[in-house]
Amino acid sequence: MDATEQYEHRSNRRSFLLKGAAAGVATVGAGRLLADPPNAHASGGLTPGDAAILRFLAALETLETDLWQQYNELGGIQDSEVPGGSGNPDYTDALSVLDSDMAQYIHDNTDDEFTHFTFLNAYLIAHGMAPANLEKFRTLPSSTATGAQQIGRLTNLMRLTVDTSWWTRYRSDSLNPDFGDTLPQAVPDLATGEHPGIPRSNDDLTPPDHLQAIANTAGFHFAFIEQGGTSLYPSLAQRVNSTEVLRILLSIGPTETMHFQTWQDKAGNAPPLTDPVTGLTFPDLNADGELLQTNLIMPEPTIFLDRKFPVCSIIRPTETDGAAMGALSALTADGLFRGQSTEFFAVMTNLAQAADAAHHGT
Ligand SMILES: [Fe+2]
Repeated sequence: MDATEQYEHRSNRRSFLLKGAAAGVATVGAGRLLADPPNAHASGGLTPGDAAILRFLAALETLETDLWQQYNELGGIQDSEVPGGSGNPDYTDALSVLDSDMAQYIHDNTDDEFTHFTFLNAYLIAHGMAPANLEKFRTLPSSTATGAQQIGRLTNLMRLTVDTSWWTRYRSDSLNPDFGDTLPQAVPDLATGEHPGIPRSNDDLTPPDHLQAIANTAGFHFAFIEQGGTSLYPSLAQRVNSTEVLRILLSIGPTETMHFQTWQDKAGNAPPLTDPVTGLTFPDLNADGELLQTNLIMPEPTIFLDRKFPVCSIIRPTETDGAAMGALSALTADGLFRGQSTEFFAVMTNLAQAADAAHHGT
């Protein structure tokens, strides 16, 4: 296929998925179930527990898409594949300090997240199950900086508290959160206070080191988001019943890991600096040993399952008990939902608790 054909193929696939989802909603709304979901029947059907896990993942992917779309409008490539924004040249330039291809990667990560929630919801609907729908919570304000759409958002990128312990977690050879270990922060300032990951207005475009600190924040936030998906999918996969649902989780989850690995590498290029406006400091990560060294991006082998076993290079954490609530709590602590309604938290908590109540074999 040439580039044009590939693009048309992708567009057709996207419109097919959306049409399929819309048709499914109409079918469920009319009180009828789709008659023939052959693959799931062949693998044992879609249990309420499997549906709860898929629905929680669809909700999180919807939230993930919302945040990525905001990043893309200001800092990604602008095209019809991920429409909406018009780009902010100053922010895009600041992001490009981390890698000249940042705009492409932001665009493609955003595109991927759209397909994740769209697919998961279409699959639920095709099996007569309710999809995740958070549209009523699209109430948070947009950035007013040049390039952003002025629409209601599900997530807030302007008051982030970014946990950067994933950096040391994947560099430690003796600690693992599944054993109760707490890992140190790579950028301690980001883990306290509230920091914008996007320019909130054109006032944030200067001075240069202030804008660079915002781009650096985004660089670490990208990896924080995607390491979460990297752990969540294997954590929840342990409790699904259908082999086809297992296939879905095992096929989507590693794409989050591919995103994470890219972002981890780019975050290491964030220049050490102190924001002259806020005092937020990004330290020199290559000044203080292997737990922070920027090029150690392959997962260091660490303890797994039981200390009696040899260390192993693994995704961590992958504990399944409470994994959905753990993910929701981590995103809440990240500040993504600052300004959201009480009802939003109630709905998300219900979705997470239902996913955590699902058990393999029931
Ligand atoms: Fe995703």
